[in-house]
Amino acid sequence: MGSQRQLKILLLFDLSVPIPREEYDQYLKTDDWRNEAHVMKVLRGLGHEVELLGIHDDIEVLFSTVRENRPDLVFNLSEAFNKDRKFEPHIASVLELLQLPYTGAGPEALRICKDKGLTKKILSYHRVQVPKFVVARKSHPLRSLRGFTFPAFIKPLCLEASEGIAQLSFADNEKDTLERVRFINERLEVDAIVEEYIDGRELYVGVMGNERLTAFPPRELFFRQVPEGEPKFATFKAKWNDEYRKKWGINSGSAGPLDSALSEKITETSKKIYRLLQLKGYGRIDLRLRPNGDVVFIEANPNPSIATDDDFPKSAEKAGVPYPELLTKMINLAGV
Ligand SMILES: Nc1ncnc2c1ncn2[C@@H]1O[C@H](COP(=O)(O)OP(=O)(O)O)[C@@H](O)[C@H]1O
Ligand SMILES: [Mg+2]
Repeated sequence: MGSQRQLKILLLFDLSVPIPREEYDQYLKTDDWRNEAHVMKVLRGLGHEVELLGIHDDIEVLFSTVRENRPDLVFNLSEAFNKDRKFEPHIASVLELLQLPYTGAGPEALRICKDKGLTKKILSYHRVQVPKFVVARKSHPLRSLRGFTFPAFIKPLCLEASEGIAQLSFADNEKDTLERVRFINERLEVDAIVEEYIDGRELYVGVMGNERLTAFPPRELFFRQVPEGEPKFATFKAKWNDEYRKKWGINSGSAGPLDSALSEKITETSKKIYRLLQLKGYGRIDLRLRPNGDVVFIEANPNPSIATDDDFPKSAEKAGVPYPELLTKMINLAGV
């Protein structure tokens, strides 16, 4: 099923500064553009006609490009507008209004998943296990945390890619927790969320589909050199600094042993989360597995990174779906 024909594809992504199209080639060689470079190369290899368009803060460029040469499909790798991730859902909304098929999540999921409080409210209503949490608005600073079970994990309510997550995000008392909340509210100038710290293995589950869903075998984030008994979590440094990762043995790979009942529970929980948060196309569900077998939701990522060595494509590969086939599935799920 689905389309094997040659398509006119507009590969859409965001630019943190304006860059003229003539200069794309040199940027495609950089690490920052890995996603775009890998997707472009493989789509062209599949015989599609691929045009690249980066948007900084001018949406008119999208309109004119579509007017001049209407694509059959937009491969949507955009995550921001004018450097601000809060606009991510609006780009998908514009694609809806232009009546263009596009890959990945729609505006609904992009909006819901951006708010780490809202996702947990929806999921806990449907009996998915989530960390207990308190939202701390910038406009309404949190004064106390009476009754909260420590340790706590404090993070920005709506940021991504581990922004604002450091060693001090873990706090085992009220004073340190409130201090970190203040840092996020006042220094980063954003809302914060205080969550119950979930001790356990960290698992990433790639899910694909619209109605009928497939979950790929879990990936796991390992912390091989972090001493036993120390809290383990993915800080900004752990995500972006290769040397730091090497030092602490932090990297992801195929998940370690999970018994079959647990595997089944992880798969079913991930699919349930994907549905409840209205994801489409493809997404990655991040979970923590408590030593007692509880599967606890941490975060849902619509349109996760899909450079060839990222967790989502790696988990697909493990399930026997090579990268070109994975991209073809994404295209087919967009309805072309
Ligand atoms: N409640 C929690 N308990 C334990 N660790 C957490 C919790 N929330 C987040 N983490 C750790 O912090 C990392 C980043 O948090 P996440 O919510 O995924 O934010 P981001 O959107 O920045 O990736 C997670 O991968 C995990 O290691
Ligand atoms: Mg995350």
